[in-house]
Amino acid sequence: MNFKQKINPKALPQHVAIIMDGNGRWAKGFGKLRIFGHQNGVTAVREALEGCIEIGVPYLTLYAFSSENWNRPKFEVNALMELLVDTLTKETKTFLENDIRLNAIGNIADLPENCKTKLKDTIALTKNNNKCILTLALSYGSRREIIDATKSIAKQVIAGKLNIDDIDENLFGNSLYTAGMPDPDLMIRTSGEQRISNYLLYQMAYTEFCFLKKMWPEFKRDDLFEAIYNYQQRERRYGKTSEQL
Ligand code: IPE
Ligand code: IPE
Ligand code: MG
Repeated sequence: MNFKQKINPKALPQHVAIIMDGNGRWAKGFGKLRIFGHQNGVTAVREALEGCIEIGVPYLTLYAFSSENWNRPKFEVNALMELLVDTLTKETKTFLENDIRLNAIGNIADLPENCKTKLKDTIALTKNNNKCILTLALSYGSRREIIDATKSIAKQVIAGKLNIDDIDENLFGNSLYTAGMPDPDLMIRTSGEQRISNYLLYQMAYTEFCFLKKMWPEFKRDDLFEAIYNYQQRERRYGKTSEQL
């Protein structure tokens, strides 16, 4: 089926978040090292990003490295960091040509120096781009993000700059790393796992979930289109009844 043609352009998700999972298992299936899966995962990143550009999804957020992923073998962590630098170097041209702005969320300070520099430079180079905001969640953990937000709000209260009664969902949301971004409308996770692994816990209160069996390196833009089409068939009730909508 041609899902792209069936998508209603007037009801696109404004923000798609993806948990790119299954690289290691995919590689093992070919008798290769896990890192081979990560390398091939980059092709799938391009598919997802080009798919968003093609139909006009303005926010794409990719879970690239979780705070818990630091506990993986050092060899794998180093390889992932190198892959990040390599990929950003290679893709800068694409970002500039396609009006893509790079953004990063997470505990960026913990990344190796060369990653931080590359990220900072690419973010600066693309800062005026507007068609699609590509956010990479790196060294990202949602519980830590919520705690960081709580601390920054508490500090403002102690300093007398903020009244406790002014703390509401809007202020809290704007104290998260994702300040200014709409909440994800659709979250896609590959690899068959059905969990959110410390990803955007606060932001996904009303997100629609799509779990795919295929591994991340196998993800194609048609998978994105199919997920968006399926998303559009759902009724988002936000606690109301169907009749009220
Ligand atoms: C996702 O694939 C990529 C990262 C977490 C960096 P995995 O590396 O988790 O692959 P599996 O889930 O072990 O197959
Ligand atoms: C989640 O995948 C993190 C990323 C995709 C970057 P994991 O493979 O780390 O998640 P778990 O450990 O299976 O929950
Ligand atoms: Mg995994």
